[in-house]
Amino acid sequence: MSNLLHQHDQAGEFDDLETEVQTGDVNDIRPIPRVTIQAFCESEVIAQTLEMASRDRRMARAHVKVHMGGVPAAVDFYNTAPTPNLIVVESKLAGREMLVHLGKLAEVCDSETKVVVIGHYNDITMYRELISNGISEYLVAPISMADVMGAISEIFVNPENGPLGKIVAFIGAKGGVGSSTVCHNVAWAIASHFQNDVVLTDLDLAFGTANINLDQDPPQGIAEAVFSPDRMDDILLDRLLAKCAEHLSLLAAPSTLERTYDFDKNAFTQVLDVAQRGAPCVAVDLPHAWTGWTRQILASADEVVITASPELANLRNAKNLIDALKELRPNDGPPRLVMNQVGIPKRPEISVADFTGALGVDPAAVIGFEPALFGTASNNGQMIGEADPKSSVTESFDFLAQILTGKAELRTEKKGALNLLSMLKRKK
Ligand SMILES: Nc1ncnc2c1ncn2[C@@H]1O[C@H](COP(=O)(O)OP(=O)(O)OP(=O)(O)O)[C@@H](O)[C@H]1O
Ligand SMILES: [Mg+2]
Repeated sequence: MSNLLHQHDQAGEFDDLETEVQTGDVNDIRPIPRVTIQAFCESEVIAQTLEMASRDRRMARAHVKVHMGGVPAAVDFYNTAPTPNLIVVESKLAGREMLVHLGKLAEVCDSETKVVVIGHYNDITMYRELISNGISEYLVAPISMADVMGAISEIFVNPENGPLGKIVAFIGAKGGVGSSTVCHNVAWAIASHFQNDVVLTDLDLAFGTANINLDQDPPQGIAEAVFSPDRMDDILLDRLLAKCAEHLSLLAAPSTLERTYDFDKNAFTQVLDVAQRGAPCVAVDLPHAWTGWTRQILASADEVVITASPELANLRNAKNLIDALKELRPNDGPPRLVMNQVGIPKRPEISVADFTGALGVDPAAVIGFEPALFGTASNNGQMIGEADPKSSVTESFDFLAQILTGKAELRTEKKGALNLLSMLKRKK
């Protein structure tokens, strides 16, 4: 920190600013994970420094965009756009004035988004004030590529700051209820709407469908990762991931029966750990099974999503799952419940209100049975959001994506009522 504050001793003097990009010592900087970084600069040389940093091999996994316009341009931009993992803003303002500007940025910023400020005043009081207001780092211009990459690395790579990514585990209350479909679509929604990188891991090794749903046929995937835990690191993970979209990568299941898949309790710990350090979101598609390893993943995930269909066996299993999870994760909130395949013609169903009432859990989404939409999307290797961006199902997946990334709170009555109404309309 102290080395960041020594460069510009004479407060307010901009005349001696460097005009050429300084590299600095980049050798000790660890590679930056799959984060999205957007910068809003005021001076050309700082924009160029960030552009050059973005082309460094250590930043190859990150998505970097550099704009001009400083804090006002950032505020304008995020009024309508989702905020990335990191915003870098340059400001030539001092003290109070800068804080007022940053306050406006905070109003349009997600709580999870980190902010690094590049300023022109070497003022320790201001530095302290910025840090206590949630700014991750204050760098004083002139800055080198190494300064900015070091700050980014400190935020996202330093193990003391905890793992970067959130693990979201998806499981069905019964086989075939659509848990994998929900998992893939929510992962896609997070990646495409919030430009938040997602690593989707298909842990149904024998029968996984993520490769079909996402139209991928990678030669390697989760099997290589789980059968060589000692070799598992960020480099191997890069090789095993299939890129599905700009921000979505898949660790695909082999989906073949050449071998059997029996695993120890901690078989997936290493690969999930590496994935979690490498991307802000890891979506785990679990098979409908209760084994040592599925229980272990459910116990340690940041969020659990249970998908259930409104009939009796689902209700019993969902109740058992929720109770078991309460014991395994006494200090976490309850799992998110998705009611899926609601309204299958001629099927006697328990009403969603009775089902969720019996569980004491409000549903995060209620999705109707829409075989044409789901079938067509799956046949075309498309997500529902691609097949029918305007459908209420897409809306439900988008809402789940918001909840799971902390961008929305669960306001169940309203959401549930909306979805139920659209279901009733379809039934006519
Ligand atoms: N709301 C829905 N309406 C119609 N069909 C759906 C719906 N949700 C999922 N499906 C279809 O149901 C089938 C099973 O879905 P999926 O494979 O996601 O279930 P699962 O719970 O993961 O099953 P498994 O137990 O095999 O893991 C798929 O063909 C999928 O397209
Ligand atoms: Mg499945």
